[in-house]
Amino acid sequence: MQPATIRPRRRRQGARGLAAATALTAAGVVTLCAALPAQAATTLKAAAEARGRYFGTALTRGDLGISAETSLAAAQFDMVTPGNEMKWDTTEPSRGGFNFGPGDQIVSFAQSHSMRVRGHTLVWHAQLPAWVSSLSLNQVQSAMENHITNEATHYKGKVYSWDVVNEPFNEDGTLRQDVFYKAMGTNYIANALRAAHAADPNAKLYINDYNIEGVNAKSNGMYSLAQSLLAQGVPLNGIGFESHFIAGQVPSSLLTNMQRFAALGLDVAVTELDDRIQLPTSTAKLQQQGTDYGTVVNACLSVPRCVGVSQWGVDDGHSWIPGTFPGYGAATMYDSGYQPKPAYNAALNALNAATPTPTPTPTPTPTPTPTP
Ligand code: XIL
Repeated sequence: MQPATIRPRRRRQGARGLAAATALTAAGVVTLCAALPAQAATTLKAAAEARGRYFGTALTRGDLGISAETSLAAAQFDMVTPGNEMKWDTTEPSRGGFNFGPGDQIVSFAQSHSMRVRGHTLVWHAQLPAWVSSLSLNQVQSAMENHITNEATHYKGKVYSWDVVNEPFNEDGTLRQDVFYKAMGTNYIANALRAAHAADPNAKLYINDYNIEGVNAKSNGMYSLAQSLLAQGVPLNGIGFESHFIAGQVPSSLLTNMQRFAALGLDVAVTELDDRIQLPTSTAKLQQQGTDYGTVVNACLSVPRCVGVSQWGVDDGHSWIPGTFPGYGAATMYDSGYQPKPAYNAALNALNAATPTPTPTPTPTPTPTPTP
């Protein structure tokens, strides 16, 4: 299969731009310059990088065998999250028996295409091998810390960030009563972050969850947890907003919510973006999805500490959505023939329309006035 190309679409945009230029001649060059972005990039990653952000995707080992998909991933994205390959059931299926082969394959793909990696994930109640949940509670902390130490050490220097703890919250903002909570209470999160930091001091350490994108009980729980961890000096660097949205239902408080976490001094990231459509699709639904993608990208661009956006998967043909949410699909920016959808154009246009990130100017240190 031929890798998808976005060239035709760019050309059409260029042609429209030219028509606009001709029509605007009388209005003058200044208007024209304002109307057309000076350095419109033609890939998501180039456009994101010009704004000091990354644009990522998730890849599984299965995806690596599909050349049309990997070509598209390498052309458009500059960050990779392993879809399943760094989860506990893969990396330590039996106690002390580590298997980093699948994760290494994803890292190697990323490295050979100059993409960075978001490590995902060290501690999670799901995709957790049964031996962990069967441990007596007084053994869970050492098993968790041993797991984190081994995995984060293995990938030291190879991952940009770790989702150290994944999906710790219930919808009401309380912590899930999983085996880690039962063994250590709330402290399991601080313990996990400290173990990850000790193993890889340069990785950005995240807590990641879904349904925390807007201001609500669950995100309030995450906000209080983040405040408390920071107050205790726990090495927490960022919050991941998974962003598994339904078309037309992006929370209106997305930006306000990202801003409040950033104001704590944390990075924020959109980590698993998709926007599912109730099938069948229609032109109107695909347009709505485009609006949603534009909203999400614009929210990230409006928050200086929003480091990037990652989509969960490359294309509709390999997305997790139809298997998990029956009746829904078409959740990504590419259709199952690898052709860009309105959501792709919306994301790219939002990135290209944004004001380039200014180079920060150092604040001069005031010279103390000597007292006579
Ligand atoms: C999903 C994968 O995409 C599926 O292949 C797997 O069967 C289940 O997990 N939140 C997360 C991701 O943090 O790890 C999940 O990935 C999707 C929801």
